[in-house]
Amino acid sequence: MENTPINYETVKSKIEESGLKSVGKASIREIKKLIDAIEKATGEKFIRMEMGIPGLPPTQIGVEAEIEALQRGVAAIYPDIFGVAPLKEEISRFIKLFLGIDVSPEGCIPTVGSMQGGFAAFMTINRMHKDREGTLFLDPGFPVHKQQLKVLGQEYMSFDVYDYRGEKLRDKLESFLKTGKVSSILYSNPNNPSWICFTETELKIIGELATKYDVIVLEDLAYFGMDFRNDVSIPGEPPYQPSVAKYTDNWILFISSSKVFSYAGQRIGMMVLSNKLFNTHAPDLLRYYNTDNVGYTMIFGALYPLSSGTSHSAQYALLAMLKAVNDRTISLTAPVKEYGEKAAIMKKMFTGNGFDIVYDKDEDNPIADGFYFTFSYPGFSGVDLLNELIYYGISAISLAITGSERLEGIRACVSLVKREQFPDLEYRLKKFHEDHPV
Ligand SMILES: Cc1ncc(COP(=O)(O)O)c(C=O)c1O
Repeated sequence: MENTPINYETVKSKIEESGLKSVGKASIREIKKLIDAIEKATGEKFIRMEMGIPGLPPTQIGVEAEIEALQRGVAAIYPDIFGVAPLKEEISRFIKLFLGIDVSPEGCIPTVGSMQGGFAAFMTINRMHKDREGTLFLDPGFPVHKQQLKVLGQEYMSFDVYDYRGEKLRDKLESFLKTGKVSSILYSNPNNPSWICFTETELKIIGELATKYDVIVLEDLAYFGMDFRNDVSIPGEPPYQPSVAKYTDNWILFISSSKVFSYAGQRIGMMVLSNKLFNTHAPDLLRYYNTDNVGYTMIFGALYPLSSGTSHSAQYALLAMLKAVNDRTISLTAPVKEYGEKAAIMKKMFTGNGFDIVYDKDEDNPIADGFYFTFSYPGFSGVDLLNELIYYGISAISLAITGSERLEGIRACVSLVKREQFPDLEYRLKKFHEDHPV
């Protein structure tokens, strides 16, 4: 019998029972189910880094506002599809105070999580030009976006930005845009899964090329303000959240409340269209919709059939949370800084035991410490490494499902790991290192 931190025979038998051919190739939810079963059978707690869910309580101001709205009776009333008026004003104010960008409230639209915003954007933006094919992903990325395109029957292209940082991004990006087939460009910043953040140089390149080729940038700010190297938490004062919106008018921003406000359960996010895009006319939209106006189509062509608006009470929660950060009643980033602090400690444990950080730089600077990091171990593919780490009580996901070309890599999410588990993590990594000498 092998001597691993989690009983070898039990892990082996649970993997067999799961029917998974390779743990390393399993989806996030399959891994979750398997680890739940192993934890139950062994009574041992895993270092669970597979799921990107908040590990903090929800922002209390939001919870209270939502309860109050429910008590006022909003549950009985359909909200306007484009969002309740005070929320739209507050989102516009937030964009001004935290990004330094002017946008009209009409382009500020609550959505059922930023996932729905993405879906509605694909339905609208990728149909603006009948001779174009779809979205260019700056990978690695969030696999669900590609799934959304698949179910819409739209095409996508992608490349891993790892080798194309800084000025090198320009030629690579232009090689795709020159084909004339790209309708939109999507990336997350900070990036899930790698936690790289585009520099101002890179955002400028993306913005300039988006203008030149008349392509819309879909900027996913799911981890707004969480590049803790820059404190963007003071409203109305630089530094602001970096954004392509500084460099082009062709943008939609997706801002999630799931991570920054730990409000994932209520499925509310924001989609913000630039004034120019909101008022653009694209005659090819008439193939699918009753009007060729982009803003109108987004609301009455896409969001209406999807869900006819966003939960009424959750809109009041978001309104209260945004108002609180806009008014400086609470800090936008103070509660989530914990993720960065944990990541710094955990990354040290990994690198101190023979592991490497895969995506480790933003141009010349070390990447920030935040919600995710990526790691590898000499001699292992990401899939094989995951298969092995499970016997050491450590779970995560392989980068292979994220469009990354770094197939040796694994994504670790720090949110659910408790500080009390750090001694276990350190012991397990040490044992792995001893058992697999480099
Ligand atoms: C990059 C990225 N985009 C979007 C989402 C989903 O956001 P929401 O919960 O607002 O739908 C996530 C959640 O993990 C994410 O990582």
